[in-house]
Amino acid sequence: MGGREILVVENVWKRFGGIVALAGVSIEVREGERLAIIGPNGSGKTTLFNVITGYVKPDRGRVSFDGQDITGKKPHQIARLGIARTFQIVKPFANLTVEENVVVAALSRNRSVEEARRHALHVLELVGLYDKRNVRAAMLNLAEKKRLELAKALALNPRLLLLDEVAAGLRPSEIKELKKLLYKINSEGVTIVMVEHVLRAVSGFAERVVVLHHGSKLAEGRPEDIAKDPRVVDAYLGSLASQLLEV
Ligand SMILES: Nc1ncnc2c1ncn2[C@@H]1O[C@H](COP(=O)(O)OP(=O)(O)OP(=O)(O)O)[C@@H](O)[C@H]1O
Ligand SMILES: [Mg+2]
Repeated sequence: MGGREILVVENVWKRFGGIVALAGVSIEVREGERLAIIGPNGSGKTTLFNVITGYVKPDRGRVSFDGQDITGKKPHQIARLGIARTFQIVKPFANLTVEENVVVAALSRNRSVEEARRHALHVLELVGLYDKRNVRAAMLNLAEKKRLELAKALALNPRLLLLDEVAAGLRPSEIKELKKLLYKINSEGVTIVMVEHVLRAVSGFAERVVVLHHGSKLAEGRPEDIAKDPRVVDAYLGSLASQLLEV
């Protein structure tokens, strides 16, 4: 698990009215790593991604990417630095084709439409949607929409990819395929942080797991240690713990 720290989140706090969504979270991610963030509904996982990617401004704390302080920067500035994310609720432009959706994303990183199109087709090939490139996004099934969401993120050529529940709603065979794809992306040098409830998507993929609970870090460690950590089992995993160990 070598590599230097690519992302450092230090003591981040975020309150929404009376709700403390993040209560002093600190996380470090090493370059090339595959990290999973798990935890109950409302434990602050998506808020953490929103803070990292500039959609939500933290009340306190600091986020650094590749040694640079990015706290409070705008989403497009952060994306340009090399952080891409997927959204928990996938929202492609329904009336555009699959290819057009990815070209729109790619345009933010490429100088010409032609260049963006070439890059988009390359990414569609990678995620297995090349044959569907002329289909309207609205016509895709859920697994395909998730892949499109991934393609839009990859179109930004990220060094760090944040995935918010990409496996939710997928069948076991689709999850297997997704993991293969994520492995491939990771092996090409992209650091991956996944937020997941689907433990089968985490097991055999994540090298390290962080558990959030009520906006705080409850535990972090190797999946096999997290699965038998009594605090994690009590607060969240219960009888599902063994799923973290399946491959
Ligand atoms: N924009 C917002 N305005 C008000 N409250 C918010 C906002 N975003 C998140 N929250 C609240 O902050 C808490 C953490 O939410 P968050 O979406 O980060 O949780 P999560 O761990 O991603 O949950 P889930 O697993 O259900 O996706 C929740 O109580 C949520 O209702
Ligand atoms: Mg969420």
